[in-house]
Amino acid sequence: MLRGILRQKKPFTTYHESLGEKMATIVGARHEEVVIMNSLTVNLHLMMVSFYRPTKKRYKILIEKNAFPSDQYAVKSQISFHGISVEKGLIELMPRKGELTLRTEDILEVIETEGKEIALIMLGGLNYYTGQAFDMKRITAAGHKMGCTVGFDLAHGAGNLDLKLHDWKVDFAVWCTYKYINSGPGGVAACFVHQDHIKRVDLPRFTGWWGHDKATRFLMDDTFVPIQSAEGWQMSNETVISMAALSASLDIFMEAGIEQIISKSRLLTGYLEFLITGIDSEDIDIITPTDPSERGAQLSIRVSHRGRSLFEEISKQGVIIDWREPDVIRIAPAPLYNSFMDVYQFVQVLKEALNKT
Ligand SMILES: Cc1ncc(COP(=O)(O)O)c(C=O)c1O
Repeated sequence: MLRGILRQKKPFTTYHESLGEKMATIVGARHEEVVIMNSLTVNLHLMMVSFYRPTKKRYKILIEKNAFPSDQYAVKSQISFHGISVEKGLIELMPRKGELTLRTEDILEVIETEGKEIALIMLGGLNYYTGQAFDMKRITAAGHKMGCTVGFDLAHGAGNLDLKLHDWKVDFAVWCTYKYINSGPGGVAACFVHQDHIKRVDLPRFTGWWGHDKATRFLMDDTFVPIQSAEGWQMSNETVISMAALSASLDIFMEAGIEQIISKSRLLTGYLEFLITGIDSEDIDIITPTDPSERGAQLSIRVSHRGRSLFEEISKQGVIIDWREPDVIRIAPAPLYNSFMDVYQFVQVLKEALNKT
C-alpha cells in the first residue's frame, strides 16, 4: 500500500515542497523560509515555543486589544505557561478614544517606551474586524531596534497584501489558507521562519519526525536532526487531500501573479469604497482606513442600528458577506474572481436592503 503511494507522480513525502515554494512567492519569502503545515493556531503556538523566550526583565507580549480571539487565547496561554500572570505579561494596543483603528505612530511609541520589557510583538498583519493593515515593515524595524522578536498572524494578509516578509526581516509569521488563498474550510495552514533563524540550534522547538533531516528520516534513528529550513518545524506528515485543494489554488495564484492580483484588488476595493460613500444613509460608516496602503480587499462597514437584519437581507439576495459582532458587516471583493460588475451589483443590493430594513 505504502509502496503504491510512494510511486505516485507526486509522492506524499514531498507533496508539500512545491506548495511551500509557491506560497513563498505570495508572502515575499524565500522557499526555505516557508512550510505548509497544521492549522493557524497550532502554528502560532509552535512559533511561540521557539520565539517567545521570556526572561526576568523581558517577558511581555504586545498584541492588539481586538486581535482575533484565537490569537488572544494563544498568547495568554503561552504567558501563563511560562508562569507569568497575563495581567503583567500582556500589553494590548488600543485605538485612541473615539477612534476605531490604530495609528502607526502610537504603535511605534508603545514599542519605543515599553520595548525593553517586550519579548514578543505579535500582531495580526491585517485586523480581521476593522480591515486595517499594519505597517509591518516599520513595526518590525522598531521592534528589532528595541531587541524584541516580531511575528505576525497573516490570516487576512496572505494572498491579499503586498508582503515582503524576508526583506522586512519579520522573525516569523503564521497564516491559514482558507481565506484569500481559497484552500477550503479548515484547509492546511502555513508558517514563515526568517532565514536568520532557520539554522539556529539555540532555539527550542517541539519536534516530530517530519521535521527530521529527509535523507535519514526513514532510518528511524531516535536522535532528531532538524531539516535546515522552515520545514524543520514540521511535526507530522500533512493530509494530502487538504494539500491537493491548496495546490489547485496556488496554481491559479501563480498563473495570475500576486502583483496583478493586488493591483486589481486596489482598484476593486477603491471602486467599492467610492460607491458606498455615495450612498445617502447615516446608518452606515466605513471603518477601514481609506489609504490603500493600510488595507487589503476588505471594507468593514459599521451599521449604527439594525445591522444584523441588514446583513440578513443582503445575504437573502445571494451575496456572500460576513457579520461580525457587535455591529460590523465585512465585504471582501476578492480580485481573483470578483468583477467590477459584481461590486456595482452588490451596492445596488445594499441600497435596496437599506431602504427595506
Ligand atoms: C486572524 C485569525 N487568527 C486565527 C484564526 C484561527 O485559525 P485556525 O482555526 O486555523 O487555528 C483565524 C480564523 O479565522 C483568524 O482569522
